[in-house]
Amino acid sequence: MKRYFRFIKPYRLCFILGPLLMLTEVAGEIVLPKLMGGMIDQGIISDAGTGFIIRRALLMLGCILIQVTGGILGHYFSIKAAVNSSSDLRKAVFDKVQDFSFANIDRFSTGSLVTRLTNDITQIMNITRMGLIMAVRSPGMLIGGVIMSLSINPGIASVLFVVLPVLAIAIFLIMRTAMPRFELMQKRLDDLNSVTQENITNVRVIKSFVRNDHENEKFRNASGELRNTALSALEVVVCTMPVMTLAMNAATLLVLWIGGGSVIEGGIQVGALSAIVQYTVQILGSLMMVSMFIIGSTRALASFKRISEVLDTTPDLSDADAKCRDKHITDGRVEFRNVSFKYYKSREDNVLDNISFTAEPGKILGIIGSTGSGKSSLVQLIPRLYDVTSGEVLIDGVNVKDYSLYNLRESVAMVLQKNVLFSGTIEENLRWGDADATDEELREAARAAQADGFVTSFTDGYKMELGQGGVNVSGGQKQRLCIARALLKKPKILILDDSTSAVDTATEAQIRHAFSTTLKDTTKIIIAQRIGSVVDADKIIVLNDGRIVGEGTHSELIETNEEYREIYYSQMDRDEKEVS
Ligand SMILES: Nc1ncnc2c1ncn2[C@@H]1O[C@H](COP(=O)(O)OP(=O)(O)O)[C@@H](O)[C@H]1O
Ligand SMILES: [Mg+2]
Repeated sequence: MKRYFRFIKPYRLCFILGPLLMLTEVAGEIVLPKLMGGMIDQGIISDAGTGFIIRRALLMLGCILIQVTGGILGHYFSIKAAVNSSSDLRKAVFDKVQDFSFANIDRFSTGSLVTRLTNDITQIMNITRMGLIMAVRSPGMLIGGVIMSLSINPGIASVLFVVLPVLAIAIFLIMRTAMPRFELMQKRLDDLNSVTQENITNVRVIKSFVRNDHENEKFRNASGELRNTALSALEVVVCTMPVMTLAMNAATLLVLWIGGGSVIEGGIQVGALSAIVQYTVQILGSLMMVSMFIIGSTRALASFKRISEVLDTTPDLSDADAKCRDKHITDGRVEFRNVSFKYYKSREDNVLDNISFTAEPGKILGIIGSTGSGKSSLVQLIPRLYDVTSGEVLIDGVNVKDYSLYNLRESVAMVLQKNVLFSGTIEENLRWGDADATDEELREAARAAQADGFVTSFTDGYKMELGQGGVNVSGGQKQRLCIARALLKKPKILILDDSTSAVDTATEAQIRHAFSTTLKDTTKIIIAQRIGSVVDADKIIVLNDGRIVGEGTHSELIETNEEYREIYYSQMDRDEKEVS
């Protein structure tokens, strides 16, 4: 709790002024019934004259003005405090997520992180605002009301002491039932967000596979679950209102009944009785507010826990212990030493098993293997998108864990299997690689990636706006833009993870050819499905089920390696069939 103080501190003035100014409302609500009662008893019944009534009315008007002004300002500062501090909180959570490793994000799921950043923060904001407004107001009105009515007539006011405990018990019971249901509701909202997000992000795939019905079903289920839990939570809350109203009316009735008899007997004046009735309504009203607040806090508390979960997570991949923090990668020699890897520590089977190899600067290392053999997992260990489970990954003889993450990732450019472009112009996207690149460097990178040709054929050229995720270019064009973006980074190590799968063979050969001039000294690691993509590599690694089953040049492997030969001939057959 203590560390949340930093979100309050910058706005402490608002946090104090908000509740404090609500005191004017309390004062007004406490004084007005008494003044009104006096006006009835002295001004009307005892006939104290119009002068008295006018003076009283003016006094009451003054009270109301102060109350309204104070109330508005109190609300203003409370809102300011709640909105600002929760916005800072949101930013802190977002920053935290930026530091998350892939493994951290895998564990939370993106949908859940989105809910936490939006809905959960909003819940906290609302409850903070409500809390600030009520912090002084409700207890003030409760206590003030009780004291005032006791001071007018203790006998009649004692009715309150019967009603209040009964109400408190009722509210407590309602809360206890509602709390777990609200927690469940928040979880269901998570599920719904995950389904929705996955669906909307992948709408093209879903449509092309005609999976709408299946997806609709999934959405309906998630939405139905949310509806059911929301209903079961709100059904309980719904009871609060009628119970409170019933109590309020019963108490008023009781006060009027006992007080009425007393008026007839001359024990109390009409004005005084009307004041007590007003206080009763106020007391119960403030209790109702408190119960609303408690209901809100139940939900906010669930949200609060979920936010804390994010803030409490230590990114499981950090460079805090890096020994060579200032070292930069100079050559880019990559070496794997007995590397084993699995995504979840709890799982038994390794995704990669005892991998050892080196990739030399200026050379091309090809990696071939069936899907699921662990190719992508292997290269993700180089820029530390994941960390090895055992063994070491070294660059220039230094463990990757000993570089600062910034220096490491700055020298490694990786074109992921799932290419992503962002909304913005083509130029903006390419400049992710190097914000300060000259226009000539930009075009050079694009030329090497065989992208310059099609980009200049667009009417807007490099200024063309890409849709979200790069929807308005073809798959092969997207891949080439991603390669250009990586090239612009002038990396020491370039990794292409199946990044030319949608590019035709001739263009792909041109890209590889360009590498030999523009990336002469760079270590190039190319993962490919087609053997044609790696035939001219200096070394090829054949991966099968997380193990290296062959290593050598194309001609060596053809001679000696059964697995490689199998892949080669199966692809040859296919190519021949395609030709014929
Ligand atoms: N993020 C992940 N979490 C858990 N398992 C994964 C993840 N990514 C891949 N895997 C698993 O690791 C294995 C190797 O996958 P991958 O390296 O992507 O293979 P390849 O790139 O050769 O097709 C597969 O069995 C896959 O199911
Ligand atoms: Mg892969």
